[in-house]
Amino acid sequence: MRILVTGGCGFIASNFIRFLYKAMPDVFVVNVDLLTYAGNPASVRDVAEKYAGAYAFVQADIADKDAMQALFKQYSFDAIVNFAAESHVDRSIHDPTPFLRTNITGTQTLLTLAKAFDVAKFLHVSTDEVYGTLGPTGKFTESTPIAPNSPYSASKASADLFCRAWYETYGYPVVITRCSNNYGPYQFPEKLIPLMYIKARNAEALPVYGDGTNVRDWIHVEDHCNGVWLALTRGTPGKVYNLGGDAERTNMQVVTSILDYCNKPHSLIRHVTDRPGHDKRYAMDFSLAQKELGFVPAWTFEKGLEQTLNWYANNQQWVGDVTSGAYREFAKLWYGGRQ
Ligand code: NAD
Ligand code: DAU
Repeated sequence: MRILVTGGCGFIASNFIRFLYKAMPDVFVVNVDLLTYAGNPASVRDVAEKYAGAYAFVQADIADKDAMQALFKQYSFDAIVNFAAESHVDRSIHDPTPFLRTNITGTQTLLTLAKAFDVAKFLHVSTDEVYGTLGPTGKFTESTPIAPNSPYSASKASADLFCRAWYETYGYPVVITRCSNNYGPYQFPEKLIPLMYIKARNAEALPVYGDGTNVRDWIHVEDHCNGVWLALTRGTPGKVYNLGGDAERTNMQVVTSILDYCNKPHSLIRHVTDRPGHDKRYAMDFSLAQKELGFVPAWTFEKGLEQTLNWYANNQQWVGDVTSGAYREFAKLWYGGRQ
């Protein structure tokens, strides 16, 4: 089976490629990645070497129709799993333009070619953020109305609607997964858990937005990869499946756990200016995926967090390599104005 994985040098898709080789010994993976600031070939170096005969890497933009067409011609894909995206909410607030190109035009380009080349399966990786925000109770289901609040989630919601249109208009068999907040090895350190770990380790101030009572439903990346795999292999065309970790935590709970792991005082926490449009709470009802796909998250948050922080502690070189140049410029700009 030939699978096109987009964004395979990013956090989740690099883990997914590793997952695929275990789940499907006869798979051939083509990883297309533009290598933006968030893409790092070192995140897949081990599998690229181990499975060299069953792996190809192409540096290209999923929104570049000519480049994608050449790729579809060269390989007869049996399936596409679309992870490539601009994924960071804060960056989308600062400059939404790349989010429109990659997340919307990129997805539409892939859908167009997948239909033209008769690719049998298309799994689009989406997010719980398309549903907007929850109050203190309840969970998002697949029939919760889409109500995105950030430029990032608006672009992801738009991509989801294009997927829906491809199914409704052309009968193209696309499946969407919407997942909650991931954590685990190889996550770019602009996201909450690796960012706070690195700051705690260096005994720097930890910038918590607002009062830190916002809630996220955390899922280990391996559980997300399993959910995507199950949806790809067992999902019903045209359907959306929610995936979650059943692990709601406030940001303060997460940040203090990280400080405790690092043996650092809670006084390092700084409450800084809130993120504009900051969603209060996410929680996923994933009973449909449980019933139809057999999806059940295996990691508890406590075990997963410890494994993740151990991984960062043992992979300082990887952290140093990804937090150079362009990333530092953005961090200076974004956090410089937040007191
Ligand atoms: P990431 O930012 O770590 O990785 C994104 C990858 O996409 C990078 O390797 C980057 O180089 C690549 N990329 C960006 N623009 C591209 C383009 N135009 N063409 C080709 N490649 C391009 O992201 P992530 O956190 O791993 O998220 C992966 C996917 O999962 C995204 O679609 C995201 O919306 C979704 N998702 C993420 C989470 C989460 O908690 N991180 C949760 C739910 C869904
Ligand atoms: O819910 C799924 C989404 O999770 C994905 O679709 C996104 O791609 C992914 O980035 C993530 O979005 P969040 O905005 O929830 O993740 P982030 O790690 O940026 O923030 C998590 C929470 O921590 C959020 O409430 C904001 C807060 N936060 C974040 C940063 C970076 C802080 O308090 N301080 C910070 O410096």
